[in-house]
Amino acid sequence: METMLNEINERLSHILDTYPDCQTKKAMYYSLNAGGKRIRPTLMLLALKSYDINYHPYIDIACALEMIHTYSLIHDDLPGMDNDDLRRGKPTCHKQFDEATAILAGDALLNEAVNIIIDAHLDDNKTIKLIKCLYQSSGLNGMIYGQQLDIENENKEIDIDTLRKIHHYKTGKLLSCSLKMAAIIANEKDQAVWEKIGFKIGLAFQIQDDVLDVIGDEKIIGKKTGSDLQNHKVTYVSLYGIEKCQELVDQLFNEAIQLLYSLRINHGLMLCIFEKIRKRVR
Ligand code: IPE
Ligand code: IPE
Ligand code: MG
Ligand code: MG
Ligand code: MG
Repeated sequence: METMLNEINERLSHILDTYPDCQTKKAMYYSLNAGGKRIRPTLMLLALKSYDINYHPYIDIACALEMIHTYSLIHDDLPGMDNDDLRRGKPTCHKQFDEATAILAGDALLNEAVNIIIDAHLDDNKTIKLIKCLYQSSGLNGMIYGQQLDIENENKEIDIDTLRKIHHYKTGKLLSCSLKMAAIIANEKDQAVWEKIGFKIGLAFQIQDDVLDVIGDEKIIGKKTGSDLQNHKVTYVSLYGIEKCQELVDQLFNEAIQLLYSLRINHGLMLCIFEKIRKRVR
């Protein structure tokens, strides 16, 4: 997994090298290299590997996913959204640079991600399906809708169904897209199962994020804790408490694993990454 991480990081740096030198490029470089966990690209490439497919021709597709994710974080931290000062252990993009540069860096990552997929020169049919998956999952039927719901429900007493919906869109959509993209490449018939697995892992991942926002160690998670409370957001922790959250996370991982066993793949690799995510402290 270490090799895969290095390969993703090397490709991301190489991609950035192709853009003209300017503040926006510096900010993109800064945020992309700030030490993100690379969960989404890793999930995609490991899912490919679980089909015994050589993942190397697809590293750029995984990088496009990480670019969309990083753009979403840069914008999520802006004063008009969560107004956070710390991300990946460093000042947030708008703190290190300025708001205009952070907005442009996010915009550029969003725009360039599609160019990276086009330039990967895969089969045209696959290219279109991958672009469709990534942009539908991150667009207004996906992550952006989740971010919208998240913002408009600040300061409101929402119920669990509304919260589940927010998490489904803001985190589940892109995370499940990582696995669905692997299925588009490896075996299109498996897409629906991978998508379901992704939503389970995505919800568990966001519940963990809510927990870490309360009990996480700032030095380890690289984000300032207490952001949700400060922004008056209802979270899984505020509704259920820490202990019940941990039970829910375990239950979601178990359901994801059950679904995984319905696929004809090498299950070990996915079980290993799921276990790593289940135990995450950052
Ligand atoms: C943070 O995502 C935002 C959520 C969807 C919870 P990650 O926890 O994957 O952030 P990085 O990429 O490792 O910084
Ligand atoms: C963000 O959720 C999800 C995104 C789509 C960016 P949060 O706002 O909880 O993520 P963090 O805690 O800032 O990473
Ligand atoms: Mg947010
Ligand atoms: Mg945030
Ligand atoms: Mg959070």
